[in-house]
Amino acid sequence: MDVGAGTHTQPHAPHATESARAPGAKKTQPMDALIIEGGRPLAGRVPISGAKNAALPVMAAALLAPGEHVLRNVPSLADTRTMARVLEKLGARVEFNDHVCRIDTTRVNSVEAPYDLVRTMRASIYVLGPLLARFAAARVSLPGGCAWGPRPVNLHLEGLNAMGAALDIDHGYIVGKSVKLAGAHIRHETVSVGATAQIMMAATLASGTTIIEGAAVEPDITELGRVLIACGARIDGLGTRTVSIHGVERLQPIDCTIIPDRIEAATFLAAAAITGGSVTIDHCDPEHIAATIDKLTEAGCDIHAGPREVTISGPVRPAALKIDTQPYPGFPTDMQAQMMALCSVADGTSIITDTIYLDRFTHVPELARLGARITLDQNTATIDGVERLQGAPVMATDIRASAALVLAALVAQGTTRISRIYHLDRGYEALDQKLAALGARIERIKE
Ligand code: UD1
Repeated sequence: MDVGAGTHTQPHAPHATESARAPGAKKTQPMDALIIEGGRPLAGRVPISGAKNAALPVMAAALLAPGEHVLRNVPSLADTRTMARVLEKLGARVEFNDHVCRIDTTRVNSVEAPYDLVRTMRASIYVLGPLLARFAAARVSLPGGCAWGPRPVNLHLEGLNAMGAALDIDHGYIVGKSVKLAGAHIRHETVSVGATAQIMMAATLASGTTIIEGAAVEPDITELGRVLIACGARIDGLGTRTVSIHGVERLQPIDCTIIPDRIEAATFLAAAAITGGSVTIDHCDPEHIAATIDKLTEAGCDIHAGPREVTISGPVRPAALKIDTQPYPGFPTDMQAQMMALCSVADGTSIITDTIYLDRFTHVPELARLGARITLDQNTATIDGVERLQGAPVMATDIRASAALVLAALVAQGTTRISRIYHLDRGYEALDQKLAALGARIERIKE
C-alpha cells in the first residue's frame, strides 16, 4: 500500500473539509449572511445540542451491524445530513425526525463514498473502517486538505493496513480489500481522534485483538466506544491511552443518545464572557468543558457548574490569557479561534499557540478587520487586547473561525456583516436563533 503518496502529500483542495460548502447549501441557503449589532450582554438560558463530532462516527458505525439503529439527540446540521447522504449512497435508509436519526443498514449494497460528498466533509472517511470490517471492500474518496492545512489521513490508512487491509490510492480514491481484518498492535505518536475512531470501528469485527497505543480520549471517542460496546463489541481501556478491542463475529443494531456538544457549550460560555453577560448553558456535560471553564475563570468570569448545566457571568473586561491547544483533556483546538476573539478585547497581551493544527489561523485577518491587534509567528498568535472592536463586513472561513467572528461581532461597536455562514451551519445548530433568544441583535439575511 502506498500510504505516503496521496495522504501527507496531497495538495490543498480549496473547497474541502471544514471549510467546504455544505452540500445542499447551494440549493437551500446559498448566500446567507448574518447581520449582528454589537454591544448587548447576553442573558438567559441556552440548550446545547448533540455533539457533531460524536454523532458522525456513531452514524458511520451503524454500517457495522445490519438492522435499524436509532440515534437520538443527533444535531440537525449540514454535516450530519452529509453523513446521512453518504450512508444513503451506500444503500442504507436514513430518516431524520426531530433529532432522531434512524439508520437501516440492512440493505447496504455499495462500498463507494464519492468525492462529491467526501470533499464537503472529511469525516465521511469514517465509513472506510466499517465497510472494510463488514464487507471486506471499500472505495472511499480521499478527503483532500482543508482551509488551514493538509490534514493527512495516513494514520487511518496505516492502522487499517496493519490489520491486513490492502489499500491502494486509485485516481483519488482509497480502494481497500481484505479477506478478513485481523487484530494488530498499533502505536500512534500523534494523538488522532479520527484514526482512533476509525481503527476502533474496524477492529470490532476483526479476528483477534487490536491494541491502540496513543489512543485519543476525547469524549467523542469514549462515546463511540460506549455505543460499540452496546452493539456487542468487546473493548477495554476506553478513555485511556491504550485501548484494546477484541474482535467479535457480529454486532447488533442499537438505540442510543448522543452526548452534548462540548464545543457548542464552550462557544456559548465564551459568547457570554465576551459580552459581559450572564448565561446558563443547559443540557451540557461540565466535565467535558473543564479546560475552557478554567481559562474563562482565569479571564475573570464567575462560573458555577451543576450536574448538567453551567452558569457564567462575564467580567467587565476579560484578563489576558495564555493558551496552548492540546489533545483532550487539554484545551481544544476547536475553541482556539473563539478564545482569540475574547482575547482581542482583553486587558493586556494574550498568547495563543495551536499545537494540533499549526496553520489554523484563517480567522486572524478577519478579526483584524474588526480592529483586533494580532500578530502571527508560525503557530503562535500574540493578541494585544483593544478596548473595543468595530463592526465591519467579514467573511467566515471555517466552522470555528466563523464562530469567532460571531463572538467578536457581539461586542463590536456598530454592525458586522458575516458572509458565507454556511460554514457555521455545518457545525452549530441554529446558532443565530439561540443567540437571539439570549438577547443578541442578530439577523440572518439572504445576500
Ligand atoms: C477531529 C475533529 C476536529 C478537531 C480535531 C482535533 C471530528 C469530525 N473532527 O478531527 O473538529 O479539530 O479532531 O481535536 O471529530 N493527523 C495525522 N495523520 C492522521 C490523522 C491526524 O498526522 O492520519 C494529525 C493531524 O494533522 C493533527 C492531529 O493529528 O495534527 C490531530 O488530528 P485528528 O485528531 O485526527 O483530527 P480529526 O479527527 O481530523
